[in-house]
Amino acid sequence: MGRILCVVNQKGGVGKTTTAVNLAASLAIANQSCLLMDMDPQCNATTSLGQSPTAGHALVSDRSVSESIVVTKLPKLALLPGSRSFQDVDLLATSDDQQAVRVRKHLDSVFESYDFVLIDCPPSVGELTQTALAASTEVLIPIQCEYFAMEGLTQLIKTIKKVIVATDGRLTFGGILLTMYDPSLELTREVDQEVREFFGDIVFESVVPRDVSLSEAPSHGETVFQYAPRSRGAYAYTQLCMEVLQRD
Ligand SMILES: Nc1ncnc2c1ncn2[C@@H]1O[C@H](COP(=O)(O)OP(=O)(O)OP(=O)(O)O)[C@@H](O)[C@H]1O
Ligand SMILES: [Mg+2]
Repeated sequence: MGRILCVVNQKGGVGKTTTAVNLAASLAIANQSCLLMDMDPQCNATTSLGQSPTAGHALVSDRSVSESIVVTKLPKLALLPGSRSFQDVDLLATSDDQQAVRVRKHLDSVFESYDFVLIDCPPSVGELTQTALAASTEVLIPIQCEYFAMEGLTQLIKTIKKVIVATDGRLTFGGILLTMYDPSLELTREVDQEVREFFGDIVFESVVPRDVSLSEAPSHGETVFQYAPRSRGAYAYTQLCMEVLQRD
């Protein structure tokens, strides 16, 4: 089975979706077969790739998940679109055992076909994120270099540790990524130092700078690699991709 990376942080707007989309794309460009799975009812990962959300989420439907997987502009990158249906979100987030087993079965049915699966999560540590974490092998946390960057992380880490225990250690810390990084700002340098002191080696050496290409690409339905392949954003996610591959 391949590696399943769950991109989480309960703080909103820290770069989860941007990271899930562009890391998946860079891995696909590095010839790894990838599935990007949209578990966020905002469906930003889905629309970022120029696709439409589905009426119901494949993970809670009776159909096989593979029927709902769509191709993207990158040959090695597939997408499982998200759904905005609140009912399906409730089902995905349920702590009901029978439903959880069904979601898990659906997830496991597709995992084997890919080298990497990246899961884009909503900004929460609620049940939906816990379902995603329980199905994953690694957790990747983007942290925005802003005030209160570390706020709420204790709760997130607590939840992650709970899932690690519940999954018998299948889930591991895949890494922490600093986003919206601007080394000319005192604040960025402070957050960088604080995060690295606290978390040590699990923090990726690669950092993602603030880059307008990264924020513009989704409105063209493209990853940064099609929209602006020479941009700093594209470079940063290529670096991150290499680090992720090295950490295998
Ligand atoms: N490195 C970056 N440089 C510039 N803009 C960025 C960068 N990363 C993300 N953005 C922009 O910041 C906004 C938030 O990013 P993104 O949607 O990836 O965050 P998120 O954590 O997924 O948000 P949410 O919690 O709502 O799901 C988006 O408009 C995105 O285009
Ligand atoms: Mg998002």
